Amino acid sequence: MIKDLILKNRSYRRFHENVKIPKELLLEWIDLARQSPSGKNMQPLKYVLSCEPETNNKIFPNLSWAGYLKDWQGPQEGERPSAYIIMLLDTQIRKEIDCDHGIAAQSILLGAVESGFGGCIVHNVNRTSVSAALKIPERYKILMCIALGKPNEKVILENLGGNGDIKYWRDAESAHHVPKRPLEEIILDFGN
Ligand SMILES: Cc1cc2nc3c(=O)[nH]c(=O)nc-3n(C[C@H](O)[C@H](O)[C@H](O)COP(=O)(O)O)c2cc1C
Repeated sequence: MIKDLILKNRSYRRFHENVKIPKELLLEWIDLARQSPSGKNMQPLKYVLSCEPETNNKIFPNLSWAGYLKDWQGPQEGERPSAYIIMLLDTQIRKEIDCDHGIAAQSILLGAVESGFGGCIVHNVNRTSVSAALKIPERYKILMCIALGKPNEKVILENLGGNGDIKYWRDAESAHHVPKRPLEEIILDFGN
């Protein structure tokens, strides 16, 4: 069921780092992105994969995690992602992107969840450092990094509380709570 997949597809930031993701699986998920919608069907997205500790270690220090959790500096060794997909814009195909990258990311993440993995879109990336570390030519602009692994955390979706705070938070058991606006708040009726 699509609903089950979407509910399970949370932003996971703590993983069983020792559970590797075979490159073939990453390719399967990217193939889902490849077959997703693209503005003007230009298909300017390109991908760099990493599923080995050596390249993973080049990427990890350049990512920022869970900005609202001020006391948490990101996943510790042992709970870090075991793979990454770096999504790039090929500027020789298009200079600007519409929303292709968001759709592609969701396709990849749903594929990952269906295969028993999970991940997190990381937009807050030190692009200069990652490009340098992975020798990515200037032609390709880093759009985002998708961190992937076998989730090792409980994520709970809930409706926004009375104070309207959208910040995610962690409870005493370290479960990660994500407030979502209720349906009635996001459906607008202008009396038409
Ligand atoms: C465009 C975009 C950028 C994001 N960038 C980051 C990021 O840099 N670091 C991070 O830890 N999470 C990032 N996230 C994950 C969001 O924080 C997460 O989607 C949000 O808290 C809701 O949680 P959920 O995905 O489980 O519904 C990003 C998500 C999106 C869609």
